[in-house]
Amino acid sequence: MGKIILTGDRPTGRLHIGHYVGSLRRRVEMQNSGEFEKIYIMIADAQALTDNAEHPEKVRQNIMEVALDYLSVGLNPAKTTILIQSQIPELTELTFYYSDLVTVSRLQRNPTVKSEIQMRNFEASIPVGFFTYPISQAADITAFKATTVPVGEDQEPMLEQAREIVRKFNAVYGETLVEPAIALPENETCRRLPGIDGKAKMSKSLGNCIYLSDPAEKVWEKVHDMYTDPDHIKVTDPGKVEGNVVFTYLDAFVKADSFEKFLPEYANLDELKDHYRKGGVGDMKIKKFLNAVLDDELAPIRERRHYWEARIPEVYDILKAGTEEAEKVAASTLTDVKRAMKIDYFNDPDWIAEQEAKFAK
Ligand code: TRP
Repeated sequence: MGKIILTGDRPTGRLHIGHYVGSLRRRVEMQNSGEFEKIYIMIADAQALTDNAEHPEKVRQNIMEVALDYLSVGLNPAKTTILIQSQIPELTELTFYYSDLVTVSRLQRNPTVKSEIQMRNFEASIPVGFFTYPISQAADITAFKATTVPVGEDQEPMLEQAREIVRKFNAVYGETLVEPAIALPENETCRRLPGIDGKAKMSKSLGNCIYLSDPAEKVWEKVHDMYTDPDHIKVTDPGKVEGNVVFTYLDAFVKADSFEKFLPEYANLDELKDHYRKGGVGDMKIKKFLNAVLDDELAPIRERRHYWEARIPEVYDILKAGTEEAEKVAASTLTDVKRAMKIDYFNDPDWIAEQEAKFAK
C-alpha cells in the first residue's frame, strides 16, 4: 500500500506565514514529490466549532479564506483532495465508537488539550466536544487510512493519542486501522515561528501575524516595525542575532539564491550574521533584505490568490467534489470498522444464519 497524507486546519482565520513554514510549504513539497498515493487536506470546521459553538458565523466565513490560502500556496486540486470536515457524517460516527476506547484521564493528560484549556480560560467550563476533540481528530486521520500527518509540533500529542486509539482498536477488534506517523517541519525555527513582536508563537489572538493574503505594502509595514535587538542602536553597534525576529525569519525563509538575488555582498546567512554581531550592519538593511526574501516567496502566492478570488464558484466546486470523494473513502473505512466491531448486522449473512440456528430449536 502506498503512503497517504491527511492533515488539516481549523478555519478560524486566514492562514499566516507561521502556518506556511510550519506546514503548508511542506504539504506542497509532498504533493509535488509524487511520493504519496493520496493527499487529503481537511478544513476542520467541526473541530473549530468545539470552542466556537457560539460563533458559527466566524467558522463559516473562514472556510473560503482557508480554501483560498490552500490554493494560493500551490495545493493543486488535481493532486490533492480538499474537503470540509462537517460534511462527512462518517467522521462523527467513527468518533462515537472510538470514544469507547479512550478514558477521561487519558484526555486530561493530553498536553495539547491541557494547554489549550489554559489558553482559553475554560477551567471548569470545558465543552465536552472540545475536551474530546483528540478522538475526533483520530477519526479524521484513520478515516482516510493516513500513514503520514504533516503538522506542527503542537499537534504531536494529538498524533500520539491517535496512534494509541489505532493500537487499541486493532488489539480489541482485529487489524483494521492504519497507524499514522507524524511529519514535523524540517527545523526548529519553522516549528515555532515567533510573531513579529518577538513574542511566543505567531498567532491571530496576539495580533502579531503576517498573513499570506497581506498585500506587499502591509508586509513591508510589519517588517519595518519588527522587533530586532533593542541594544543595537547605531549601525556600528554590535548586534544580537538570537531572539532577533528578522534573523529568525531569515532562518525560515532564506533560499539558496536569496543572497545572490537581493544581497550579493554576502555569500550566505552565516556571513551576514557574523557581520551583524560584530557591528556595521544596520537594521534597515536586514529588514529590506528580509522584505525582499519574503516578497519573493509571497508574491506568487498573492498572485494565485487573486486568480482564485476571481473564481469563487470554481473553488466551491473543488470543495464539493473533494468532500464527496472523501466521503466515499470515509464510508468504506466506517464499513470496515463496523464489520470489525460486529455491528454490521444487515451486511452480514452470518448474522441471520446465526440467529436462525439459535432460534431453530
Ligand atoms: N488540530 C488541527 C489544528 O488545530 C486541525 C486538524 C483537525 C487536524 N483534524 C486534523 C490536523 C487531522 C491533522 C490531522 O490545526
